[in-house]
Amino acid sequence: MKIEERALGRFLKWWGPRGGLAQFHRPTGTVGHVVGWIMGRRSSNVARNRWAVRLLDVQPTERVIELGCGPGVAIAALAARASRGSVVGVDHSAVMIRQARHRNRAAVRAGRVRLVHAPVENLSLREGPFDAALAVNTVGMWPDPTARLRELAGLLRPGGRIAVVSQPRCPGATAATSAAAATELAGQLTDAGFEHVRTEMLDLDPPAACVLGRVAPASPATPTTATR
Ligand SMILES: C[S@@+](CC[C@H](N)C(=O)[O-])C[C@H]1O[C@@H](n2cnc3c(N)ncnc32)[C@H](O)[C@@H]1O
Repeated sequence: MKIEERALGRFLKWWGPRGGLAQFHRPTGTVGHVVGWIMGRRSSNVARNRWAVRLLDVQPTERVIELGCGPGVAIAALAARASRGSVVGVDHSAVMIRQARHRNRAAVRAGRVRLVHAPVENLSLREGPFDAALAVNTVGMWPDPTARLRELAGLLRPGGRIAVVSQPRCPGATAATSAAAATELAGQLTDAGFEHVRTEMLDLDPPAACVLGRVAPASPATPTTATR
């Protein structure tokens, strides 16, 4: 079922300041289940997740991780691309992990998708290395985002890619709000050590910003000096 975008926008504008916002940060209980249902069906949510996955340009044999995967919309798009690879999704909400598992049940059963109930601040290096990482409308919710992004860089192989997305959902958000969010994310990625940082915008209301970067490629082996 498709959700009528304008009516939902009006409801969220009313509900956000009355406690609704916290549910998007960590959906819990029955209300959290409804929030996940909304995130999984809201047309702008689905569009920005699929767009970000296209920008990340995942290849069939790649290993990919998504942080703050919510109800698993991007996980489904990532798994469709990484058809001979694998996808790991992480979220600190048990309700979201359940929904993501249900949405991606065939790929989970096939062992191509693994969903981990954990906070991003507890990621272990044993999870990696990954070829690419994705985080959609979640980085701003993390404690010390730059430190988390630096840890994430350590989970990526040399040359690995990242895409972080922000579509501001605060009441009254405009294109200027999205541009400011993009500038902040680009600064955080640069501070975390990512290279070739660039921004793409998707024309939604308000626009979604996707900031992409790369981990430095492995340095070529030092040539041996000829002695004679
Ligand atoms: C606004 S939702 C976005 C969900 C999904 N990325 C999407 O675009 O549909 C933010 C998600 O990030 C998760 N999240 C927030 N902070 C987190 C943290 N520190 N560790 C793990 N997940 C987190 C929330 O539980 C929630 O599912």
